[in-house]
Parts: sequence; structure tokens; C-alpha cells
Amino acid sequence: MALEIIPAVLVKTKEELLEHISRVRNYVNIIHIDIMDNKFVPNFTIGIKELQELPSGLRYEIHWMVQKPEGWVAKVKGPYLHMVHVEAVESWDNLANAVKESGGRLGVALNPETSLEKIKPHLKNVEKILVMSVHPGFYGQKYIPDVEAKIRELRRMLPKAEIEVDGGINPETGLRAAGAGANGLAAASSIFAKPDAEKAIEDLKNALKKGWGESHG
Ligand code: DX5
Ligand code: ZN
Repeated sequence: MALEIIPAVLVKTKEELLEHISRVRNYVNIIHIDIMDNKFVPNFTIGIKELQELPSGLRYEIHWMVQKPEGWVAKVKGPYLHMVHVEAVESWDNLANAVKESGGRLGVALNPETSLEKIKPHLKNVEKILVMSVHPGFYGQKYIPDVEAKIRELRRMLPKAEIEVDGGINPETGLRAAGAGANGLAAASSIFAKPDAEKAIEDLKNALKKGWGESHG
């Protein structure tokens, strides 16, 4: 299973999106794009329009922090991973159709207080589980260590699953999340607020490897 550091991009213009991507594109495989509608979370970002024609040569995952993501997904065509919040979906059938129409794949995200019971019915249809370690809406928040119990339980249930943690990740919290069983870490401020993105990514990669090694002998 690949261990991945995944830069999270939370921006309000296409220019910022492209600028963020160009800062990290040589050091990572996947870019995580945060999309907010000011309804599901109290903040807004770029939307459908800015997601068209993303720079090629990278994999993208779209973290949909929107109400009823099934109404958005089909408007972004391409081989992307659509990570929707289990708390926000109204019709899973419509969502499945929308993902198909988009040409992408499905992942599921869950808020810190949401229990694994809520995602269990959907696990067989998703390629990745995104465990939120902050309340979604803003970057630069503090990591909530309580979610590690959930990561541990998920990893026990699904030894081979892609489990990514998002929110408040730095080398120290990244080590903890990986020690609990996460194999992917999304991070915004601990990469983009640093002068040297390459070094920041390297530090996170080392923490991820170390934590993963500790949890997997
Ligand atoms: C939170 C977003 C995160 C956020 C991460 O609502 O989903 O992806 O950008 O930011 P940091 O790494 O600064 O907590
Ligand atoms: Zn995110």
C-alpha cells in the first residue's frame, strides 16, 4: 500500500489553485482540493468552474464539503476521486450515478464526531476513507487526537483500505495518525505556510513512514 503525503489546497481563486499546485507538483502524486459551499461548512472556496481543466500529470481528489454532493460531482468530469461527506449525502443512488457520469471514483469522508456505523453500509463501494481530524471549514486548526480510536478501529476492520487523515497534520500529529493506521496524510498549513514546500513534504513523509512502521512492525 502506498504511503502518501497529500497537499490540501483550500483557496478562493483559480490563480491560487494553480499557484499551490505548482509549488508541490514535483514532490507528490496526489493533490487534495477542498471545496466548500458555505452551507455544509461556514466557508466557501472555488467551485465547479475552477475545477475544469486541472493541470495534467497529477492525480486529484476532491474533498466535497458541500450539502448534497450528488448535485455537484457530475459537473466535474475526469478521473478524480470524489470524497463526499457521509453527513451530507441525501441520495446514495443519485450519488452513484453522478460519480459514474463524472468518470471518477468515490471516497467517503466523516466528521470527527461521526461514528463508523454511518459509513459501514457504503464501505464496499468506496476507494478511500477520509477521517477528519478537525471540524471541516478552515485550515490551520488543531488536530483532534480522539479520532485516533476511529482510525485504529477502521484499520483493524479493513487492513488493506486506503485511510487518509485530514486536519491539523504536522510531523508530530502525522506520526500519531500513521501510528493509528492511516496510510495517507492530507496537509495544508504545514506545507503551504512553510517557505520550503519540498522540505515540509519530506518532514511529513518521514513521520508517515515512521508511524506506519511502528503500527505495522
Ligand atoms: C478542512 C479541510 C482540510 C484543510 C487542512 O476543512 O478539509 O483539508 O485544508 O488544513 P490544515 O492541514 O491546515 O489543517
Ligand atoms: Zn480537506
